Amino acid sequence: MFAWTVLALSTAIVLRAAQSYKPVIVVHGLFDSPGDFKLFQGFINETHPGTNVTVIDLFDHTQSLKSLWSQVDGFKAAIYPIMQNAANGVHMICYSQGGLICRGILSTMPDHNVDTLISLSSPQLGQYGDPHHHKLYLNSSNYLAFLNNERENPNATEWKKNFLRIKKLVLIGGPDDGVITPWQSSQFGFYDEHETVIDMRQQLVYIKDTFGLKSLDAQGAIHTFTVNNVHHTKWHSNRTVFDNYIVKWLT
Ligand SMILES: *[C@@H]1O[C@H](CO)[C@@H](O)[C@H](O)[C@H]1NC(C)=O
Ligand SMILES: *[C@@H]1O[C@H](CO)[C@@H](O)[C@H](O)[C@H]1NC(C)=O
Ligand SMILES: *[C@@H]1O[C@H](CO)[C@@H](O)[C@H](O)[C@H]1NC(C)=O
Ligand SMILES: *[C@@H]1O[C@H](CO)[C@@H](O)[C@H](O)[C@H]1NC(C)=O
Ligand SMILES: *[C@@H]1O[C@H](CO)[C@@H](O)[C@H](O)[C@H]1NC(C)=O
Repeated sequence: MFAWTVLALSTAIVLRAAQSYKPVIVVHGLFDSPGDFKLFQGFINETHPGTNVTVIDLFDHTQSLKSLWSQVDGFKAAIYPIMQNAANGVHMICYSQGGLICRGILSTMPDHNVDTLISLSSPQLGQYGDPHHHKLYLNSSNYLAFLNNERENPNATEWKKNFLRIKKLVLIGGPDDGVITPWQSSQFGFYDEHETVIDMRQQLVYIKDTFGLKSLDAQGAIHTFTVNNVHHTKWHSNRTVFDNYIVKWLT
């Protein structure tokens, strides 16, 4: 009896050690820097002590205006070693513009080991500019149109395969964001030419599964949360948002 108890206890300890939390990589948004994520890091430290959280210290403040492809390259170089040290994979939390950068990273990284991608109020289908010039967008967008594989892209198949290595895609946003327009872009919705918002499942990129959204959805991998009364600048410092929509994924 005693021996069994000791065995059970030591097994529990070994299991606990083996189940340490996956490292978390945070990619900040426009004009931010790691300093803006102090509270957020504190939340994770409190609920998941010992988690290795890295807020990548690159393209801070006005540097975040640099071309998105150059930021993808820079962030990739910084996160690669973290991924290599993480045998069980990592989670990524990407805020605002960071959410688009993270898609660029994941699509162009054949060996990434991201388990869950949490997109925190990111303009995933773009930001209101001029929805009346969709053809011009398709012709001239050097970033999003490629990423969505809406523009002729020789790497489309590979990028889709790479993106589909993630296990879960968590999309968080809400109507009181005040910056992301339409706010549904945070959940892959966007305006049609009449400025009516069309949701993710009616979007051409979803229907044609151009970069993997429909495949992820078919796997039950997409988790969408609409949260009221959160302004764009508050998503990462709001404890309720963290407790209700983020913490459960950080296993
Ligand atoms: C994590 O929390 C512990 C206990 O409250 C504290 O001592 C430690 O400084 C915190 N670490 C970080 C990186 O916030
Ligand atoms: C966190 O991860 C990075 C990259 O793998 C590593 O260099 C660093 O030492 C880790 N920090 C801790 C406290 O484990
Ligand atoms: C898009 O590009 C094609 C081919 O270069 C050109 O013929 C067409 O006028 C362009 N359309 C717009 C709206 O820019
Ligand atoms: C496709 O991938 C190749 C090799 O990785 C790269 O050189 C090229 O720029 C990519 N094409 C596009 C349109 O990004
Ligand atoms: C925090 O989030 C909750 C919703 O989860 C919201 O009701 C509240 O207004 C938010 N507070 C701030 C300061 O953003």
